[in-house]
Amino acid sequence: MRRIPSVTLLLPLLLATSLALLSCAHETPAPAPLSGADQIARGYYLATVTGCNDCHTPGYFYGAPDTTRRLSGSELGWKGPWGVSYARNLTPEPHTGIGAWSEADIVTAIKTGKRPDGSMLLPPMPWPDFAALTDEDAMAIAKYLKALTPVMHKMPDRVAPGAAVKGSIIELPPPSAWDAPRTPAPATPSSTP
Ligand code: HEC
Repeated sequence: MRRIPSVTLLLPLLLATSLALLSCAHETPAPAPLSGADQIARGYYLATVTGCNDCHTPGYFYGAPDTTRRLSGSELGWKGPWGVSYARNLTPEPHTGIGAWSEADIVTAIKTGKRPDGSMLLPPMPWPDFAALTDEDAMAIAKYLKALTPVMHKMPDRVAPGAAVKGSIIELPPPSAWDAPRTPAPATPSSTP
């Protein structure tokens, strides 16, 4: 009796298995939208890994972030050609934080840099990078911010370029030739790497 080479038997089997796997992949249902606590947990995760605490939680740049006042703003000013900006109070405290903002207002600010009063967010708030967040992820961050413990903390106002500044600041020195802008600053968010 002639022996059938095992590869001849294996090939159809392999083909059938790959087809079955492919059709499975097609049938995978879209993930259900997150709700309630899951959305807030996702927002906590995203806000943590995207570094919101670096700038917005007091003490972070001194190696001692105070999580009891998480995201309640930092009075370490950032001085550059835009003047001085301060990473603001993101807790839902209505007078000194962003308690009066809607979740949609927060999503717009994070993704487009535009505040509810129409003004644009100054550097170093990295909204051009956050523009790449999906709407779902930006909304999860907004829901997480709304769920934070409100902290009463009146932030210092922005300081116009050239005006006198009080308090601690990080002052950006002029750039080296390598870092000097070679093209006008992008007007649109950075997207693909
Ligand atoms: C590198 C520092 C830095 C990081 C990181 C950062 N921010 Fe900011 N953020 C700022 C600064 C500075 C401002 C104030 C800008 C201004 O005065 O226009 C600001 C302003 C904001 C505002 C506007 C608040 C207001 O009252 O106007 C929101 C909302 C905000 N940030 C959310 C976030 C979130 C959410 C994250 C993380 C996903 C984040 N920021 C990460 C520096 C930062």
